[in-house]
Amino acid sequence: HMSFTGNPGTGKTTVALRMASILHRLGYIEKGQLVSVTRDDLVGQYVGHTAPKTKDVVKRALGGVLFIDEAYYLHRPENERDYGPEAIEVLLQVMESERENLVVIMAGYKDRMEQFFQANPGMGSRVAHHIHFPDYKADELMEIAELMIAKQGYEISDDGAQALLDYIERRLDRPRFAYGRSIRNAIERARMRQAMRLFESDRKLTKADLVTIEADDIRQSSVFTDTEEEEPEDDGEGTAKAGAAVSA
Ligand SMILES: Nc1ncnc2c1ncn2[C@@H]1O[C@H](COP(=O)(O)OP(=O)(O)OP(=O)(O)O)[C@@H](O)[C@H]1O
Ligand SMILES: [Mg+2]
Repeated sequence: HMSFTGNPGTGKTTVALRMASILHRLGYIEKGQLVSVTRDDLVGQYVGHTAPKTKDVVKRALGGVLFIDEAYYLHRPENERDYGPEAIEVLLQVMESERENLVVIMAGYKDRMEQFFQANPGMGSRVAHHIHFPDYKADELMEIAELMIAKQGYEISDDGAQALLDYIERRLDRPRFAYGRSIRNAIERARMRQAMRLFESDRKLTKADLVTIEADDIRQSSVFTDTEEEEPEDDGEGTAKAGAAVSA
């Protein structure tokens, strides 16, 4: 069992997915699926609902990886009538009894995970591997961006790359920056602006025009004009949907 800590967009979910497939290929787990859940998938609303709910999720995860995002929400000491501890109880049992057949990965912010393990020593002692995902630096984000651009069949001009680096450096200083995810979204928006630019251009377009992101496509971002934050992040990825199972 493992714990992944780190800020949003530093790759925890992505690595958990890879981990499931690697552990499968190494023969540690039979099927290699990743079942990604949060508190609401495990904890019921009424007395007696939680244990069966958690057990159902565990059943789906057997032979693979159970990924519990923001695991610390299972523990809410401030709420007396909280059923979180019942889910923790079930998890503690299966993490022991099914250890041959199930890998549990818990993820979240570093300090809150540490508090969670302190408050739940049984949990802490069952997690052998604590892996921290440090924040990416600007040059690393630039590499990630270039990978993403290439993967999408696009290119970026030299001026464009310079603009993107400027953009990254500005975003790094702002709140709500979500590293890899923000980069993915920034590229998405740059592609949109590129498409608009081409649509509005009246010269004949070459193939290079169609696949190249230029500095303009980056510099139109509000990051370069506003003193306020970038437009709100709209994701639809990252924290997998409740109960979504991804087959590795
Ligand atoms: N090292 C990397 N190389 C390439 N892409 C990356 C890397 N790290 C993160 N990404 C990309 O960033 C996006 C967000 O990553 P991911 O969802 O794994 O982050 P997370 O740590 O689970 O975030 P959260 O805490 O918000 O759930 C994904 O699109 C992923 O592909
Ligand atoms: Mg995630």
